[in-house]
Amino acid sequence: MNQAVLTLACLTLAFSAMAEDVTYRKDIRPLWEKRCAECHGSASPYLGEFEENKEKHKEADEGPRMDTYADLLFFVAWPDTGALMRRLDDGKNTKDGKPGNMYKKLGKTEEARQQNLSLFKAWIGEDAWTMKKKGDISKEELLKIKAKY
Ligand code: HEC
Repeated sequence: MNQAVLTLACLTLAFSAMAEDVTYRKDIRPLWEKRCAECHGSASPYLGEFEENKEKHKEADEGPRMDTYADLLFFVAWPDTGALMRRLDDGKNTKDGKPGNMYKKLGKTEEARQQNLSLFKAWIGEDAWTMKKKGDISKEELLKIKAKY
């Protein structure tokens, strides 16, 4: 194979890998298990219960439960619209320019955090990555969310 053909073959491979959809089952679930399950798993309370006893749960380092696809979407789309994005953002989109307080949980190094943030963003959809809450988001913006299973 000559150089040009080889380069083309490599490029084609790289592009098809990039175009492949990010899904919950293939990408997000394994990442979630590694980085989030510890505090948001089945032993954690659902959001309603969490909020009733917030201080107690915070002290125990227990976040609200989000251990299934449906339960995680709760913090993406509705009713806690954009919570996942607000908490994971690295500060590029937040109002005060500070990272959300779950950003640091994304990885041990800045490189790992950025890589895992990109994965979450690709899953939600780059142009659906919003800090907006349910009262501010438009239907059009909501419909941009991909979050494929
Ligand atoms: C060491 C424990 C811990 C880990 C690991 C952790 N979290 Fe949390 N998380 C918490 C606690 C405690 C809260 C509630 C306190 C607060 O609001 O900051 C919380 C709150 C949240 C919220 C806000 C929920 C709401 O609407 O009130 C989201 C979203 C979230 N976490 C996502 C994640 C994601 C995604 C990961 C993995 C990348 C993660 N967390 C890893 C402890 C953790």
